[in-house]
Amino acid sequence: MSCFFLEARRAVPPIPEDDENMIRSVERAKSLRGTVALPGDKSISHRYAMLAAIAEGPSELRHFASSQDCRSTLGCLRGLGVEVREEGDAVTVFGRGLNGLCAPAGVLDAGNSGTTMRLLSGILAGQTFQSTISGDESLSRRPMGRIAQPLRLMGAAVEARARDLPPLTIRGGKLRGLRYALPVASAQVKSCVLLAGLYSQGATAVREDIPTRDHTEIALANFGCAVRQDGSWIEVETGPRLIGRNLDVPGDLSGAAFFLAAAALVPDSELILPHVGLNHRRRELLDYLQSAGMDIAVENLSECAGEPRGDLRVRHSTGFLDGGMPAIGEPLAASLIDEIPVLAVLGSQTAGGIEISGAGELRVKESDRIAALAANLAAMGARVEERPDGLIIRGRQRLRGADIDTRGDHRIAMAFAVAGMAADGETRIHDAECAAVSYPDFWDTLDRVSSGLDPIN
Ligand code: S3P
Repeated sequence: MSCFFLEARRAVPPIPEDDENMIRSVERAKSLRGTVALPGDKSISHRYAMLAAIAEGPSELRHFASSQDCRSTLGCLRGLGVEVREEGDAVTVFGRGLNGLCAPAGVLDAGNSGTTMRLLSGILAGQTFQSTISGDESLSRRPMGRIAQPLRLMGAAVEARARDLPPLTIRGGKLRGLRYALPVASAQVKSCVLLAGLYSQGATAVREDIPTRDHTEIALANFGCAVRQDGSWIEVETGPRLIGRNLDVPGDLSGAAFFLAAAALVPDSELILPHVGLNHRRRELLDYLQSAGMDIAVENLSECAGEPRGDLRVRHSTGFLDGGMPAIGEPLAASLIDEIPVLAVLGSQTAGGIEISGAGELRVKESDRIAALAANLAAMGARVEERPDGLIIRGRQRLRGADIDTRGDHRIAMAFAVAGMAADGETRIHDAECAAVSYPDFWDTLDRVSSGLDPIN
C-alpha cells in the first residue's frame, strides 16, 4: 500500500487571493456557549421534496433545509413543471402525481449537489421525455457511472461525458425491474435505483451489504409506497399512488457535528442543539463520539414520520481529549462518511489520535477530502499519513494558524473552522462562503456562540 507523510516543513503553495471569495479568520476560542439552531436535514429535505413532486396533492414541508444543495433540488423540480412555494422555512410542493412531470425547457442545474443529480436521475429515468442534468465544476468531476449503469440495465438511455461524468442526458420510459447488488456503499445509488423502481414494469430491489442511511425507504413509506425489506434486499412497490403529506424536517446531524466537535475542543463550552435528526443510521456518529468519551446528552427524544429526533447537550470534557478515538474502518466509515473531515481534526487533538480506513469514497466527494484533510492539517503543522482509503493522524498535535484551501468544499471549510478554534494564531479559511452548500448560517452561528452573549436555555 502506498503512503506518504505530509509534514509541516513541506512547502504549501500560496492560495490565490480572489476578491469575490470570502476569507474567514478564525482564532483560538475561549468558550462556546449557547443554542445552535440547525438547518433542516439536507438528506431528508431532498427526498421529501422529490417525493412530494411526484405525489398527488400538496405537501407542506416545514423546517426545510436552507442549504444551497436543497435549493438546487427545488430549482430542478420547478424546471420539471412543479409549483413550489416558499414561506420562511416552510416549502409547499404541489405534487403532479407519479407521471405528471413536464419535459424541462432547459438543462436542469444540480449545482454542487450530488444527491440532487443522483436521486433525481432515478426519477428522470422513469419519464417518457428526455432531460439533461448538469452541475458545477466540482459535481462535473464526480462519478455518475454508479447510477448510469443500473439505470441502463433497467432500459433507460443515459448519455454522459467520457467515464460517465456529468452532464447526464436521460431518456427513460418503459423500465424493466432490476435486482441490483450495490457495488459501492452509497445511499445515493440505492435511492436512485429505488426511485427508478417506482416506474419499472417488474419488481425492483436493491441489495446493500454495508448499510447506508435509509431516509429514502422511510420517506417512500410516508408518501404511501410499500417498501419491503428482506434481509439485505430492499424492494419497492412499482407504480404506487403517492399522496402528498405535511412533514417536519429534523435538524441536520451532519451540521451539528461541527459544533459537537468545537464544544469538545474549546474549554468551558456548553451548547444545546435542539430537534436534531437521530435516524438510527446517522446517529452512529453520536454512539461513536459517546464511546470516545465525549460528554453529549440526548434529551426530549421523539419521532416524526418515522424519523427520530432529540435535543443534544454537549459539554467540554478533558476526559475526551485525554482518550483515544476508536479507529474508523468498514462498515462504520459508510455511516460516518460526511463527518470524517471534522473527526480527523478532532483526532489530531485527542491523546490517542485517529486511524481512518475503508473511506476511499471520500476521494470522490465535493473535493478529494482525504487529500484536502492531509494538506490542510499539514499546513497547520500536523503530521498526517495519507493512505488511498484513509488517514493516520497522530494525537495531541499542536496546530498553528494557516491559510486553509477549502477547495470549495463546505465540509472542509467547517472542519477547519473547528481546527482554527484550537490553533495558535490566525487561521484563514479561503472560499468560506462554500459552507452555505449545507449550512448557510454556519459562520453567524459560530460568531454568536463564541461571543459569550448567547444564553443557554
Ligand atoms: C447522501 C449520501 C452520502 C453522503 C451525502 C448525502 C444522501 O453520499 O455523503 O452527503 O443524502 O443520500 P453517498 O451515497 O455517495 O455515500
